Amino acid sequence: MAIEPSILYFGTPVVLITTMNSDRTPNLAPISSAWALGHTLVLGLGSDGQTVANLRERPELVVNVPSPGMWEQVERLAPLTGRSPVPASKPKGMRFEADKFAAAGLTSMPSATVTPPRVAQCPLQLEGTAVSLTPGAAGGFVIIEVAVSMVHAAAEIVAPGTNHIDPVTWSPLIYNFRHYFGLSGQLGHSYRSDTPTAMHR
Ligand SMILES: Cc1cc2nc3c(=O)[nH]c(=O)nc-3n(C[C@H](O)[C@H](O)[C@H](O)COP(=O)(O)O)c2cc1C
Repeated sequence: MAIEPSILYFGTPVVLITTMNSDRTPNLAPISSAWALGHTLVLGLGSDGQTVANLRERPELVVNVPSPGMWEQVERLAPLTGRSPVPASKPKGMRFEADKFAAAGLTSMPSATVTPPRVAQCPLQLEGTAVSLTPGAAGGFVIIEVAVSMVHAAAEIVAPGTNHIDPVTWSPLIYNFRHYFGLSGQLGHSYRSDTPTAMHR
């Protein structure tokens, strides 16, 4: 049947983007339009937010990847923007927050290759630099390509003795039509998997 849904968010991982404000404090923003092409990350961001304003001036960022257990902290960030005054184009009820780490109950820690801090609670943290910001054809959003400079992973999600994330112990937090989910269990793996024995969750 043909339907006319108000949103098309069919389930992508949530990431928390850290960037630097002009006053040298960090901003933190949840987004779910993020994926990897090799070692480049592609992000889709509303052009009215503080994150895009920061990246236009200071292209360094960290893409922090939360686990499913962090959904409530992510949701605490949902009505907040680092932009003041709040743009009229933002959803109703959105408010300015200068310290989003404190508002969400999250902790910052220094990065190794970029100025914006990492989110200590996120098991996976990708440091990088925005190398292109392309206006979306429909207006209102920007497509950002990020060159990743360093990857940090919690020991629990790394296959012992390797450089590989263990897909059995790692799960992203999935934003599925504005509801939060974890992964339900493994179905199989690609013929290119570096961890082909990891079959059971
Ligand atoms: C789970 C979740 C996913 C979101 N996904 C996106 C997204 O993909 N792109 C986007 O621009 N905003 C997304 N938002 C809304 C941003 O958080 C919002 O635009 C906010 O203004 C960004 O913060 P900033 O203005 O401080 O940059 C999402 C919000 C939540 C809670």
